[in-house]
Amino acid sequence: MSKSVIALSFLLGLTLPVDAQVPQATVTVDMSRAGAEIDRHIYGQFSEHLGTGIYGGIWVGPDSKIPNIQGYRTDVVEALRKIHVPVVRWPGGCFGDLYNWRDGIGPRAKRPTRINVHWGGVTESNAFGTHEFMDFAELIGADPYVSINVGSLAPYDAAQWVEYMTSDEKASLANERRKNGRAKPWQLKYLGIGNETWGCGGNMDGETSAQVNARYSTFVSAPASMGMVKIASGGSGNIGDYKAFTDALMRKGGRLQALSFHYYAMPMRSPKGPATGFSEGQWANELDLTLKMEGYISDVSAIMDKYDPDKKVPLYVDEWGSWYDQEPGSHPGFLYQQNSLRDAQVAALTLNIFHRHTDRVKLAAIAQMVNVLQAMILTDGPRMLLTPTYHIFDMYQPFMGATPYAATVSTPSYSFEGKTMPMVDVSAAKGRDGKTYLALVNSNPHTAAHVVTNLSGMGKGQILTGSAMDAHNTFESPNNIHPVSYSGTRDGGKASFDLPGGAIAVVALEP
Ligand code: AHR
Repeated sequence: MSKSVIALSFLLGLTLPVDAQVPQATVTVDMSRAGAEIDRHIYGQFSEHLGTGIYGGIWVGPDSKIPNIQGYRTDVVEALRKIHVPVVRWPGGCFGDLYNWRDGIGPRAKRPTRINVHWGGVTESNAFGTHEFMDFAELIGADPYVSINVGSLAPYDAAQWVEYMTSDEKASLANERRKNGRAKPWQLKYLGIGNETWGCGGNMDGETSAQVNARYSTFVSAPASMGMVKIASGGSGNIGDYKAFTDALMRKGGRLQALSFHYYAMPMRSPKGPATGFSEGQWANELDLTLKMEGYISDVSAIMDKYDPDKKVPLYVDEWGSWYDQEPGSHPGFLYQQNSLRDAQVAALTLNIFHRHTDRVKLAAIAQMVNVLQAMILTDGPRMLLTPTYHIFDMYQPFMGATPYAATVSTPSYSFEGKTMPMVDVSAAKGRDGKTYLALVNSNPHTAAHVVTNLSGMGKGQILTGSAMDAHNTFESPNNIHPVSYSGTRDGGKASFDLPGGAIAVVALEP
């Protein structure tokens, strides 16, 4: 075992056996094979009216004692600004297909209270509506992505909503927006034509969904200068017939501007298992589920290629992430789960997969931003913490807008309880700053790997790992797991790395 692994493991409190044979992986990056740019929008996020994802998580209201900027939590806004969130999707999810945008405009005190049927049957005050969302997106510097209701409202309602948000004319809807406090139209970049039309969005088959997409997208429009993209609601890796569903949409969905896809790395059994305190079998199973994203994207891309060989229609993976049992004692409809080193692995492996499919995947949204499923941020009253997933999004920032290069990895496998996967996963890209970046993931939670590359120089950056598979941050101890500085080594002039078990590193190569 190399000295740096032992030193780093010691620092991190890991107990690696000193006499272990360190597995070796070889990475060959082909700098002559550049892929399409990594669209920064693959680092997007999803924020639904679900549990405390919005109320308490983002919005506390201007009268709250929790420090806020016109009602938005200051701590959350600052953390999101730091990772340069490129796009936020709202209001659902399943919530979106029972949402009437008229409930969420005008004086807050006069807005109706509704029941959030999908998520716990709790009351929805509508305090966070169109103005609050669009202003929030502006505040954090993200493009807004609004999903319209195709399940329970008419195309006319959606058309009016879009006009309300985007028109600069002297017409009634734009005037109403002005009266409600917003003079200029918002820049609405993305419009989802429904959500999961195969399920909570209407339980439709592929053919019906395609017709619904063609119909609704005909009637919604924004000024052409806005370049708004309409996104057809596509299939999901969590349903059996995603191929037929994709095929139907491509064939009959009208002129698609983008197609969505969802996939959750979710154990398909009950109970799903806890977010912390899990076994190594559950670690391996979750990473195995995560890696299935690669096959789903390949399958969907192949179907899209049949109808769109020039790849004009992008694929948006606008819901993805881990899904476990809710935390004990939390509301079962709120999908509140902790987030550990295992989720950092889920995030890093998934982002690496997106980097390998930049010809099609141009946008993605992790589910969800705050307090729901694989969250970036957890809050508890005035307290907040950044999760390991947040740290991965932070570490991966140099990949936004970078040019990916094909990397071949010859690696030992990691196997546990019947799940076998490559131990080492790598993504390589040239950043906008001209530097070569590598993201390295060691999925074996216990065993270090020695990684040798064909690239000259030495890698320096950050590493995230922990003293246990479920290392996580708590409100009492919010800094248990966070990135630390990290340097590789130089083996015969080539950049090499000692990567502790379970670690994720992002480095820039230096001469
Ligand atoms: O993210 C939670 C839910 O998962 C969304 O509302 C829905 O679209 C998906 O099934």
